[in-house]
Amino acid sequence: MNSKKIAGEKAVEFIKDGMIIGLGTGSTVYYTINKLAEKVREGLSIKAVSTSSSTTKLATQFGIEIIPFDEVDYIDLTIDGADEVDNNLNGIKGGGGALLYEKLVASSSKKIIWVVDKSKMVSTLGKFPLPIEVIPFAHHQVFNKLKSLNLNPVLRKIDHSCYITDGEHYIIDLSLEKIEYPYELDNTLRSIPGVVETGLFLNMADMVIVGNEGKVEIVNSKSRL
Ligand code: A5P
Repeated sequence: MNSKKIAGEKAVEFIKDGMIIGLGTGSTVYYTINKLAEKVREGLSIKAVSTSSSTTKLATQFGIEIIPFDEVDYIDLTIDGADEVDNNLNGIKGGGGALLYEKLVASSSKKIIWVVDKSKMVSTLGKFPLPIEVIPFAHHQVFNKLKSLNLNPVLRKIDHSCYITDGEHYIIDLSLEKIEYPYELDNTLRSIPGVVETGLFLNMADMVIVGNEGKVEIVNSKSRL
């Protein structure tokens, strides 16, 4: 059975009537949204905020009403995907380009569940290129700064044009192979003028649901219990 599907669907069991739900972005959360829509049709009453234009489109198509992020004070539970997750439940996100809104929604969430397939679980972050969201006006300078720090920056492009995020920024992906000190790296990146957000999601997830060959494994955060 599809590992993304079983992980994505499992997360819906944690959604209770009356909750405000943050809906993440990506092919795993697709299954969460699909399953949640089924529950809503059966009578579950929730409110949802979205982390991307693609998720808003998908949820709306499935019949889930999305309310604006700035109309809620907090989110009870956010369910999102991730590109890599280490043993401390630190993660890399933003492969799909939605890192800024994902981090904003995550930062206002009481509880965060990530849904992934087993291939996303790693001992050290970094094999997946780390996305950095940057201000277009400053992207050349930010790129050069990242290069001078030996962080192997690559400006994300689609069909020879710069990839543009929902927040109308660019993305620079860092090919690092190994991130030994994620907190230090995050601080370094944040200190560069023009960097809007990084794809390092540190000490944010409370639980990771891992789909693996027809089964799900639930990993709880030790530091956030
Ligand atoms: C979107 O920007 C990302 O952070 C996604 O959450 C992440 O890429 C996971 O996507 P998949 O579930 O499609 O692998």
